[in-house]
Amino acid sequence: MSTSDRFLAAALAFDREGSPSQAELARGVAGDPAALAVVDRAEEARRQPVLVLAVCRWLGAPHGPWSMLRPWLLARSDDVVAELGRRLTQTNDVRRCAPLSIALARVPGPIALIEVGASAGLCLCVDRYGYRSGDRSWGDPSSTVQLGIDVVVEGGARSEAELPTAPLPEIVWRAGIDLDPVDVRDPDQVAWLATLLPPERADRRDLLGRAVALARTAPPRLVAGDAVDGLAPLAAEAPTGVTLVVVSTGTLVYLPGRRRQAFVDEVGRLGARWISYERRDLLRDVVAEVPPGVSPDDAFAALALDGRVLGVGDAHGTRLHLTA
Ligand SMILES: C[S@@+](CC[C@H](N)C(=O)[O-])C[C@H]1O[C@@H](n2cnc3c(N)ncnc32)[C@H](O)[C@@H]1O
Repeated sequence: MSTSDRFLAAALAFDREGSPSQAELARGVAGDPAALAVVDRAEEARRQPVLVLAVCRWLGAPHGPWSMLRPWLLARSDDVVAELGRRLTQTNDVRRCAPLSIALARVPGPIALIEVGASAGLCLCVDRYGYRSGDRSWGDPSSTVQLGIDVVVEGGARSEAELPTAPLPEIVWRAGIDLDPVDVRDPDQVAWLATLLPPERADRRDLLGRAVALARTAPPRLVAGDAVDGLAPLAAEAPTGVTLVVVSTGTLVYLPGRRRQAFVDEVGRLGARWISYERRDLLRDVVAEVPPGVSPDDAFAALALDGRVLGVGDAHGTRLHLTA
């Protein structure tokens, strides 16, 4: 896919997620050869529209339409390319904990939890949040982080049986791996997470703030490393006699294709349970059908336990169509 096509596709996604300002900027970049030439100076993996626009904001680009950003981008091109080399897309979306919690509830505790691509580790705190779908709730009802998810269950009447009841299984040990872990105690690092969010979405900044505040009371352990190479050494530190669960949400897309399979193989070699909430068509071993009548947006991701698909959902974990 060309860089222009990536920005055009991103414009549609920005529109869908309620960020018309970013959609307008993405269309501006997509149709501007000089701007595309700046982006193309960054390495291929860093030419992501979310990352490019966040880096511009981080470096103080003017808030406004493409006609304002364009001259700034061309004037600051060296700074933008250098910053793109230092940054990763690290959006830590706690809303993905809702589908994650539904799969986690099916694993008997006590649990040792490892997340790969953990960013700030906010999804490692999955048991510290409360969840609601319709009149069903689970997790921690007193948590300052309450997450809603619309769940549709095939054959509707079975929904009661498919959703968890409070509380979630006990997590006795937890740790995350990330190429560049984000420390929730460091305001500057947290500011980068906020910068990655769409400027219009004050609700998401508020949710991030509440999740960070909660995580600061007991920051999850994070180690710097690669999802594949770092997994076995970290797993070796987990207590014995408990169920090891490895989680990946919105992360494996950033691994080159062969490394994705290497990750799946490594989880199998460790004998760990594995929960994934990843792009539906990403993994050879996770084959998800789109149920009839479900839109592509609502089937962006597949929720799977040990590679067995439980359902499909949107990119952010706010809508889930459970099939198993
Ligand atoms: C989009 S964020 C997702 C964070 C979190 N899982 C969530 O759903 O909110 C992807 C994370 O994966 C990390 N990452 C990318 N490639 C990685 C790799 N090879 N090994 C470990 N972490 C990686 C990035 O640094 C980033 O923090």
